[in-house]
Amino acid sequence: MTQREISSPKSGTVGWACPSNIALIKYWGKKPIQIPMNPSLSLTLTEARTLTKINYKFHPGNRDRNLQFRFEGKENPAFEERIRKYINSVTPLIPFLSHTSLEIESENTFPHSSGIASSASAMGALALCLVQIKEELTGSMNRDQFWQKASMIARLGSGSASRSVYPQFALWGESEGWNQSSDQYAIPVTNFHKTFLKLRDSILIVESAQKRVSSSAGHALMDTNPFAASRFKQARQNLRLLQTAMTKGDWESFIAIMEEEALSLHAMMMTSKPGYLLMQPNTLSILQKIREFRSETRHRLGFTLDAGANVHLLFADADATPVETFIQSELVSHCENEGIIHDKMGPGPQKITT
Ligand code: DP6
Repeated sequence: MTQREISSPKSGTVGWACPSNIALIKYWGKKPIQIPMNPSLSLTLTEARTLTKINYKFHPGNRDRNLQFRFEGKENPAFEERIRKYINSVTPLIPFLSHTSLEIESENTFPHSSGIASSASAMGALALCLVQIKEELTGSMNRDQFWQKASMIARLGSGSASRSVYPQFALWGESEGWNQSSDQYAIPVTNFHKTFLKLRDSILIVESAQKRVSSSAGHALMDTNPFAASRFKQARQNLRLLQTAMTKGDWESFIAIMEEEALSLHAMMMTSKPGYLLMQPNTLSILQKIREFRSETRHRLGFTLDAGANVHLLFADADATPVETFIQSELVSHCENEGIIHDKMGPGPQKITT
């Protein structure tokens, strides 16, 4: 159905809970508009989520659309401005939005100041709501089209958000050996070995303050990083190696590649012009202790890092008891206010019934 065919006003409420994700192969460096310099692969979390509800009013013939945004029950002019710009930027892709007033309410299940990147879950939840409004106004889409559109709209808000709309694992960016892969949207990855299907991720909060250098600024610094070309090549190669390891169920290679990606990401920050450091002394202590514990016990655990000081400790569900004991006895003292979020791989976004 086209916009011209809908002549009567319509209103409704939509809602989505969308989880955050953690990349195993990192997206770092992009070109306009939100096109990644290399593919990335992530796992979708469960507990760290954004819940977004939108009351919408479609009023054909009237372009005076109204936008209101409340975050955790309060008005937030800074967020509202960012959302307004974002909605303007995606309106050409969802033209109905130019005749639709939106009252948006959003909240996170994790503390705002936990240092957890919220843009993936926030933009994922918002994109799912917008695509659902489109569906309610224009008629149902097939499910693959729905997720693909949501992923594409999410990508325009934040690159990593494109991956959050899928359960378990997602790949974003054109990659050799993945027929359906695209720079425009992420695709679900469903053929990994079952040993990786119940991954745990304990997020060790070393620093909860906002990052000193935003991800957007960090991506931009890749334009002049002298090691950028090698890094993009390394990411592609690591993706191929990780695909093989995860298809076979090879934990040793999985851990080696994941940790190499995390350290390379931070190496890019350190070698940017100007260089900067987001890891803290406690980050390094945690990384060393994880490696020592692994070599002593042979348990299946490894680390990855976001663009910040916090550590994601990934481990096999079957090794949870000894790993959690290790976290409590050795790692918690390195966390700010003993902050840890025990998360795990999850089933992806859920519709909030209104
Ligand atoms: C280090 O997706 O936050 O987490 O597209 O500018 O919003 P924008 O950046 P963002 O970058 C995420 C970078 C990363 C790695 C990753 O998630 O792949």
